[in-house]
Amino acid sequence: MVIADNLSNSSRIGVERIEELSGKKVTFYEYDICDKSLVDELFSKEKIDAVIHFAALKAVGESVEKPLEYYENNLISTLNLLDSMQKHGVMKFIFSSSATVYGNPQKLPVTEDMPLSWLNPYGATKVMIEQILTDFAYANKSFKAVALRYFNPAGAHKSGKIGEDPNGIPNNLFPFVAQFASGKRDKLMVFGDDYPTPDGTCIRDYIHVMDLAEGHVAALKAFDSDKNMNVYNLGTGKGSSVFDIIKAFSKACGRELEYEIGPRRPNNADAPASYADCSKAARELNWEAKRSLDEMCEDSWRWQTENPNGFE
Ligand code: UFG
Repeated sequence: MVIADNLSNSSRIGVERIEELSGKKVTFYEYDICDKSLVDELFSKEKIDAVIHFAALKAVGESVEKPLEYYENNLISTLNLLDSMQKHGVMKFIFSSSATVYGNPQKLPVTEDMPLSWLNPYGATKVMIEQILTDFAYANKSFKAVALRYFNPAGAHKSGKIGEDPNGIPNNLFPFVAQFASGKRDKLMVFGDDYPTPDGTCIRDYIHVMDLAEGHVAALKAFDSDKNMNVYNLGTGKGSSVFDIIKAFSKACGRELEYEIGPRRPNNADAPASYADCSKAARELNWEAKRSLDEMCEDSWRWQTENPNGFE
């Protein structure tokens, strides 16, 4: 296995732990894949069968403030990979897409055939890359691409050795709640309780990161299908509110987590509810999420308590 990462929001220690847990040697390149010459060099040196493209900037709020950085980083990196793949005859590509491509979904659960839209530059990059893959696959009949539309990844590896370690204050609910529960953050704020949902807070489809990882393995195995560009939702099909998460995490960490109700996120950026119909992945990839919300909270809490300062 070969990993290329510029370590802008990750750690070399994470790579060592992957080796430890998998028992497999990883060839690691501290490369920024926006650098075309480095990508070409990597493809010349290594024998690559398939590419899984996880590398991207992913903070919604930051993307509104720094749109050019998002377009440049997310698009150029993808174009560089596709170009090198074409040159070196590598034909299998898995892309980390996102439920964000559905914008504010008008129908639930969300199915893959629903119209795409975006609410911010980050979301726009995901929609654009899916389009680039569709066009590239149309022009190159032996190229096969799969875009996996992740819903809300949560949890950590059961060993407590790999988990989320975002730079600075976490943007996302799960790592924020974990850091709050450990005493690293002073205040847990619920961003709005006046949404048109049963308890007034937003509903999302949280999926255990290990289920997500298994979704990639399933997609790799299913590359023989006839279509050369495919998209799949990866979620659990179940919606949980912000209050549901706080309650489940309180159970996992063994104390009632207190919170405050704050205003909604700026610009009405949150869709009130989003959860996936995952029947296409079940049918065509023979994959479904197996782990519960309680497991996501337990594993995330284990990671947080055993690594209070992340990978450092
Ligand atoms: N929330 C809080 N308090 C916090 C953090 C979050 O109440 O401190 C709320 C949010 O307002 C939202 C819910 O918790 O209602 C989930 O927020 P996240 O940031 O964890 O997740 P999002 O659904 O906003 O975004 C995630 C990914 C995006 C992706 C999107 C796709 O972070 O990259 O899912 O739907 F685009």
